[in-house]
Amino acid sequence: MILPSHLTIKDDHLTIREHDMVALADRFGTPLYVTDEDRIAWNYHQYHEALTSRYPDIRILYAAKANGNLAVLRVLASLGAGADVFSSGELHLALAAGMKPASLLFNGSSKSPPDLALAVEKGVPVSVDSLDELHQLDAVAGVAGKKAEIAFRVNPALDVPTHPKIATGLATSKFGIAHNLIPAAYREALACDHIVPAGIHCHIGSQILSVEPFARACEVMIRIAAEISDIGVHLKFIDLGGGLGIPYHRSEDRAPTPAEYAEAVVPVFRKGIEAAGITPSLWVEPGRSLVADSTVLLTRVNSIKKAHRTFVNVDAGFNLLIRPAMYDAYHEVIAANKAGREGTTLCTVAGPICETGDILAFDRLLPDPCAGDTLALLDCGAYGFAMSSQYNSRPRCPEVMLRGDAAALMRRGETISDLTCTMQNLPWQERS
Ligand code: LLP
Repeated sequence: MILPSHLTIKDDHLTIREHDMVALADRFGTPLYVTDEDRIAWNYHQYHEALTSRYPDIRILYAAKANGNLAVLRVLASLGAGADVFSSGELHLALAAGMKPASLLFNGSSKSPPDLALAVEKGVPVSVDSLDELHQLDAVAGVAGKKAEIAFRVNPALDVPTHPKIATGLATSKFGIAHNLIPAAYREALACDHIVPAGIHCHIGSQILSVEPFARACEVMIRIAAEISDIGVHLKFIDLGGGLGIPYHRSEDRAPTPAEYAEAVVPVFRKGIEAAGITPSLWVEPGRSLVADSTVLLTRVNSIKKAHRTFVNVDAGFNLLIRPAMYDAYHEVIAANKAGREGTTLCTVAGPICETGDILAFDRLLPDPCAGDTLALLDCGAYGFAMSSQYNSRPRCPEVMLRGDAAALMRRGETISDLTCTMQNLPWQERS
């Protein structure tokens, strides 16, 4: 297996730089998410360099949904990132992390009146997903005596090679306004008293392992940008969304680098804006490709069961990592305490949840698995903890951040009282 450069094997143990994963599991307990701040910074610098070297006026809006821990947001804020926020909660977290309102974009296909009011109050630009939403926002801004900056979310009707549940640019998807209806939408926005059309936005899907769909989306966006500039829209930004994939199958997949992405997209962008005579900022919204490979999920083996297959029963399940159950996603598994040894036993890694589908990995070769082993699931930094739940009344596990030779909790583990603290005693039930 080809490991990312921050992961190594020392004395048979898996390490993230100098940090021994078995020692961390002993110190903080399992299950445990472990994130490497230095890797996030490295990933960010790759993007930044790839884009700014080809077009100076860019902004990276980290997709906060991928990993919304404040510590992660603070790292990215300190590097200069803004954020794609998809809820009022994400908006609050991005501001708490020190991001400026103007460096955020409030995305989403179904925003509530309080969501719109918050965006207006804080001065966060809104990606508008329907004409109904446009007029609601106009009214909210009017009541507040403010102007709201907007972009329309374009549905470019592109078929993108990825899992159907994470393809968002299809004509049939719930997201965005059909590309042919976009110029009329901007005309309507220009006629609103409290709306300032400032940008245009799309996001075609996630875990995309080829750069070609991004270049095609950019072509569509540029064509529309030229058209709406002609009707009087002054475009401050063109936001091409996120979606660049990572090589989850570490021995087989090949994911484009940010430089390859930029090389495919930026020339299309530059040519288009030059032809249209406009100078917008180029925005992108990477989530997974910034944070996924920064994180491992450590889990202990509770027991081995030799049945029609060998089940390795571990203490993390789809309560903590739902991607395998939800998208048949693949995450590499390494026995962190025997990392230098060859796999000998074909195993199915099963979680503790009361569901047949609670399988984290099928048919993996592990070295003589036994109770007490520590397994590491790789590439869990995006949509890992962020999609966790308390299903089966399991308190969520802690998250640790590494930086240099330091390791610290960035989220404590939940306790049983975290399960009950939001529950209320009903007046007609006796308390036991
Ligand atoms: N921008 C928008 C508007 C998005 O909806 C998303 C992701 C992104 C940016 C970031 O995409 P990324 O660079 O991370 O691919 N839970 C799924 C992924 C859902 C993606 C949702 N939107 C998974 O675990 O694969």
